[in-house]
Amino acid sequence: MISARRKFMSVPVKRILVTGGAGNIAYSLLFRIANGEMLGPDQAIALHLLDIPQAIEGLEGVRMELEDSAFPLLKDIRVGIDPEILFRDVDYALLVGAKPRGPGMERKDLLAENAKIFIEHGRAINDVASEDVKVLVVGNPCNTNALIAMHSAPRVKRENFMAMTRLDQNRAMSLLAQKANADVCDVSRVAIWGNHSATQVPDFVNAKIRGHSTFELIPDRHWLENDFIQTVQQRGAAIIKARGKSSAASAANAVIDSVRSLHEKTPDDDWFSLAVCSDGNPYGIAEDLIFSFPCRSTGKEDFEIVPDVAWDPFLKEKIKVTEKELLEEKALVEELLAKKV
Ligand code: NAD
Ligand code: LMR
Repeated sequence: MISARRKFMSVPVKRILVTGGAGNIAYSLLFRIANGEMLGPDQAIALHLLDIPQAIEGLEGVRMELEDSAFPLLKDIRVGIDPEILFRDVDYALLVGAKPRGPGMERKDLLAENAKIFIEHGRAINDVASEDVKVLVVGNPCNTNALIAMHSAPRVKRENFMAMTRLDQNRAMSLLAQKANADVCDVSRVAIWGNHSATQVPDFVNAKIRGHSTFELIPDRHWLENDFIQTVQQRGAAIIKARGKSSAASAANAVIDSVRSLHEKTPDDDWFSLAVCSDGNPYGIAEDLIFSFPCRSTGKEDFEIVPDVAWDPFLKEKIKVTEKELLEEKALVEELLAKKV
């Protein structure tokens, strides 16, 4: 048997940048990436960790721990505070670094403070990242931050900018499984539509449990329309209330899932949720938004928005609300989007 150690030697190193490298999510994420959970056991990687001057000591600590883990796949670690150096030649940019919200805040309350980070990082992507770089924005409000980054990096294809709604999908799958007394593996086709916010639409109408319509296993439509949707929409806030800080390990897990979904062929009867550029989308959602849709991949780092997922009147009304919220967020940053790079 060829060991993973020998096999990956022939594969070019993939460079993965993580911003907020000294933060909470990064601490749950970096060691899993380095262990091959994101790009697979044969893919040699380099990690670039970016943070701000106040966090540089913490960042050095993370570097030491990565070194001390002696991960066979990890070929290079770069840490620093200069985006123009750290973004150079990266194949993946995981934009985690941003302020998290506190109790009582909505994610969009972070826009004023966090938006400028995504202009700076978008510009660095434009200037020095690999031409095919895939950008996944986690820092909140992630959809609109991804829009800002995309506008700041016109050299890179628009479809390469994504924001993370996989944590919402995972939350929804777990809740449906619990309610139906099923396993999470039995739950498929869970789409999150729209914004990673309290207006997001976790779609129980098209979801399947053991291949059956959700309504067959959970005939309680009142629970689905109310408790289920609200629990998913408010889960981030519930975690902040319980932990005193926002989700970190589950967020890191969702980053791994999001990127892995681009590397694995999506099963024919399934899809995954990802917020992507709405240009040319098959649902008539306004263009130039980063909007979460059901997506599928051929496994070659690509995706397409799954067409023809039916909306009943309930879904249609809710999806309009989340679209409107994204348009409002966009209007708040219009001036930043219009700035020439
Ligand atoms: P954290 O405060 O623990 O870490 C954030 C890190 O980012 C810090 O080390 C900080 O110094 C760094 N940072 C700030 N500005 C930076 C800049 N300009 N360049 C590089 N680094 C910078 O926060 P966290 O818990 O890791 O959360 C990070 C972000 O992710 C927050 O905005 C949070 O709301 C968001 N989040 C999103 C999801 C999602 O599902 N999309 C889930 C959880 C958290
Ligand atoms: C989450 O969904 O857990 C994150 O977006 C953090 C938050 O502010 O809710």
